[in-house]
Order: sequence, then C-alpha cells, then structure tokens
Amino acid sequence: MLSREGLADGVVRVGETVRRPLGAHGPAVHGLLRYLEDVGFDGAPRFLGVDEQGREVLSYVEGDVPRGALPGYAAADDALAGVARLLRRYHDAVQGYDPPAGARWDAEPADLDVEPELIGHCDITPENVVFRDGTPVALIDFDLARPTTRLYDVVTAVRHWAPLADPADRDRLLYHVDPGPRVRLFCDAYGLARDERRWLLPAAWARFERSYRVMRERAERRGGVWAALWDGGAGRRIRRAQDWMELHWDDLDGHLV
Ligand SMILES: Nc1ncnc2c1ncn2[C@@H]1O[C@H](COP(=O)(O)OP(=O)(O)OP(=O)(O)O)[C@@H](O)[C@H]1O
Ligand SMILES: [Mg+2]
Repeated sequence: MLSREGLADGVVRVGETVRRPLGAHGPAVHGLLRYLEDVGFDGAPRFLGVDEQGREVLSYVEGDVPRGALPGYAAADDALAGVARLLRRYHDAVQGYDPPAGARWDAEPADLDVEPELIGHCDITPENVVFRDGTPVALIDFDLARPTTRLYDVVTAVRHWAPLADPADRDRLLYHVDPGPRVRLFCDAYGLARDERRWLLPAAWARFERSYRVMRERAERRGGVWAALWDGGAGRRIRRAQDWMELHWDDLDGHLV
C-alpha cells in the first residue's frame, strides 16, 4: 500500500515518488533532470516519467523542506553557505548542458538583457531546498528553470536567503540579520569571482524590475494564483525591497568589493 501525502497545491507524495501537474515547460525540465542524472549530480530529484493521470513523477528526496515560518536551521549562516555551495555544484554540473533547439522554458515575457551562460534554477527559495541535518542537499521545483547567467541565479538566491528585503517583509528569524555580511558569505561560499560581485546589486535591481513587470502581467493575463499573489501585495513587497536596497546600497556594496 503506497502512502499518499499532500505536499502543496496539486503536489502529492506517493511512496518514494512525488506527483506534480505537468506544465507546458515539462518536457524541457525533464530533459534537464535527465542530464543532471547522467552527469551524476545528486542535488536534484530524478525524473521517473508521467503517470496514468498525466502528472510528472519525480523521486522523493528525503529530508526537510522549510515551508511556512523559517526554522532555525534554515536561518543559520551555515545554511546560507550550504545553499551557495549547492548552487555552485548545480551550475558546474549543468554548465555543459546543451538543451534541444526549441526547448520551451518558462520565460515570458522575453527575459534576458544579457547572453545566457547556462540553464539556471531561477527559483532558489527556502520552499525549494531540501535539508538533511541542517545541510542543504538538493534543489527541487525546476519549473522556472531557463537560460540565464550564474550571476542572475546567485541574485535570486541571495534575494531570498540573505535576504535582500525590507525587514517588514522578512521571515521573523531574519528580521535582525545584517544582510551585507550574509551576501558576502554567500559569494565566498559560491566562489563568485571578484569582478562579478560588483554587478550583483545592479543585477538584483534589474531582477526586481523584471519580477514586478512579469508578476503584474501574469496577474492580469492569467489570473488565478498570480492574481492572488499580486493582490496579496507581491508588487508592493518588491518596491519596498528596492527602497530598502537603495537606502543601504553603499553599505551592501562595501561587502562586495
Ligand atoms: N522531489 C521532492 N522531494 C521531496 N519533497 C518534495 C519534492 N517535490 C516537492 N516536494 C515538497 O512539495 C513542496 C511543493 O513542491 P514544489 O515546490 O515542487 O511545488 P510548487 O508548485 O512550487 O509548490 P509551492 O509553490 O507551494 O512551493 C515542496 O516545498 C516540498 O516540500
Ligand atoms: Mg516550489
């Protein structure tokens, strides 16, 4: 008898597998997960096929995923450094992946203002990282994976984990942290080159602008969860994060030289 457990909207655990609704970008993501398996990267679920209900079947990664209020282990500096090392390992593993021409990623409206370097994860939030004994061991939820740069993926991670956010919008345990040293810790653990670090804040700014635009467009055109996110203040949180960044720009930048 298989155990069944609801994990999130439409996402269920069935035994040692997870079943998720299949999106338009499913085939592209499955190709990516197969490549990661081929090169022996152990920090992502395996793609196991599509079930009789048309859902994608992934391997269940044993461990803890911080959902809801951030638990202490996930707010620790060690966790932040661990996420950075995991992201670096993912980037080094995916670097050689040449996706099939015409692969359809979740990337609209047209995304990049720079030449893409690799297929990024693009959604390194606490809900998408599996921990074991306080150590990040796997990335899950590759729905937003798409061609991007290492720096943009670092920016997304830092934005959620340092975090780059107004204290009012942070998780309770991150309310009093000083994000500057944590951004530097992330860059050190990732091994981000010196000359890339000076572009981190401008890149974060550009990503905030993009997120604002994309979320507003999706709320208008697709409605549903996007509209709920927008109505719940997603746009206002982005603007507050930008205001906070502007106010602390020089201090943050001082940790990146
Ligand atoms: N392969 C997996 N192994 C272990 N847990 C998983 C796996 N896939 C999903 N989960 C669990 O289910 C949750 C939701 O899955 P996922 O992030 O893939 O879906 P989602 O649609 O992004 O949901 P949400 O927006 O609520 O995060 C994850 O936060 C995690 O707790
Ligand atoms: Mg998720």
